[in-house]
Amino acid sequence: MSDQRSLTLNENAKPIFELPVLSGTTGPDVIDVQELYKQTGMFTYDPGFTSTASCSSTITYIDGEAGILLYRGYPIEQLAEKCTFLEVCYLLLNSELPDNAQMQEFEEAITLHTMLHDQLSYFFKGFRRDAHPMAIMVAVVGALSSFYHDALDIKSKEDRDMSAVRLIAKVPTIVAMCHKYSIGLPFMYPQNKLSYVENFMRMMLGTPCDDFVPNPLLVRALDRILILHADHEQNASTSTVRLAGSSGANPYACITAGIACLWGAAHGGANEAVLNMLLEIGDISHIPAYIKKAKDKNDPFRLMGFGHRVYKHYDPRAKLMRATCHEVLTELGLHDDKIFKLALELERIALEDDYFIEKKLYPNVDFYSGIVFHALGIPTNMFTAMFAMGRTVGWIANWDEMIADPDQKIGRPRQLYTGATRRDVPAQHGTSI
Ligand code: SDX
Repeated sequence: MSDQRSLTLNENAKPIFELPVLSGTTGPDVIDVQELYKQTGMFTYDPGFTSTASCSSTITYIDGEAGILLYRGYPIEQLAEKCTFLEVCYLLLNSELPDNAQMQEFEEAITLHTMLHDQLSYFFKGFRRDAHPMAIMVAVVGALSSFYHDALDIKSKEDRDMSAVRLIAKVPTIVAMCHKYSIGLPFMYPQNKLSYVENFMRMMLGTPCDDFVPNPLLVRALDRILILHADHEQNASTSTVRLAGSSGANPYACITAGIACLWGAAHGGANEAVLNMLLEIGDISHIPAYIKKAKDKNDPFRLMGFGHRVYKHYDPRAKLMRATCHEVLTELGLHDDKIFKLALELERIALEDDYFIEKKLYPNVDFYSGIVFHALGIPTNMFTAMFAMGRTVGWIANWDEMIADPDQKIGRPRQLYTGATRRDVPAQHGTSI
């Protein structure tokens, strides 16, 4: 970071403090306010962090106006077309794409850690069959730390790398187990001869009674969808992981915090909410009424899958997701899928509407993902768990970067206090005790 410029704070036209302005390799400069409170006794105020950089990072860059998303400098469009999800995992964790030998070593490490300790299956049995899979994910991923005392030293890069491999390897197994548990079918064990996504699809959709023959086009489509979900700068769940990690919590606890945050409908829970919304709209003729609801300030209804804190133009992932959606539906003979057609028409109408144009509301990554998951046979309540499966690597990469940052300290924001000032408990209070 370069520190060439500064910003001067004035009071009654008299300079009271100068703030350094820092520049990164690209993107907006930042005003370094670390000394602000010490020097002025004032805090900055930014609920929702709309103008706040919480950290410096080398992992992912987003240009919301231009609709650009880069992982370690590589455009998402090129990674989605030319790489596998595990190659992208390696890239996010190690800053560079792997060569063949590195890829083979990484893939072998992941494959050898896809199984869970058998005791973990007992955690599922405490849940009702209709428990939301994200509730189970929070419980089981959080419990992982109790099985891996051998590698929880967060100051050890070797231990951090081991935790990264274990989480990337085991989360798909846990996601598939959540599904199997909810439908009363036996858990499927991973098979080492299968690729990462083939393995997941077999554990998720296969049964012990039949050989599972993965459809290569669907495997490639799901692999691409995981790439699109892998990381996204300092979004709510990634920021949650960083904050949890800043206290020194173990990586499994931090990723669990990320899973819990992702569950919200404004964040990763939106893909489930989009499909439920499309099913509720039901027919193209009903779209205008729902657009009207979305625009009504007095109506809490929002067009799920639309809008984004950063993208004020098209989310590049939504474009790739829409293409993947079309590819999967065509492969499955569902190109006339009513829900997909409804989504396309809803997108067309919304993007022509002044409200959405003026507020720069475009489809985001969640708008089409639910339709693809639905077509792949994945139940609606599993959609956010699928998002978590893709995002686990992004959370770990950010956690690892933060722990390795020499300037890292525990995150402890302040506040603008607007409550009661000091007052005494009335003398007569509590005399009855
Ligand atoms: C993800 O941060 C990330 O990177 C997240 C993510 C990732 O990969 O990690 O990209 C994944 O979470 C994608 C977003 C998924 N959520 C949804 O699709 C839910 C629907 N979208 C909204 O709730 C909303 O757009 C947010 C939460 C995504 C963004 O909210 P902001 O940035 O806080 O914007 P806002 O709520 O202040 O909205 C600005 C205006 C408001 O109107 P005014 O008060 O200015 O009059 O736009 C309106 C909002 O009412 N608005 C919408 C809308 N989204 C915003 N109106 C109708 N429908 C919507 N979807």
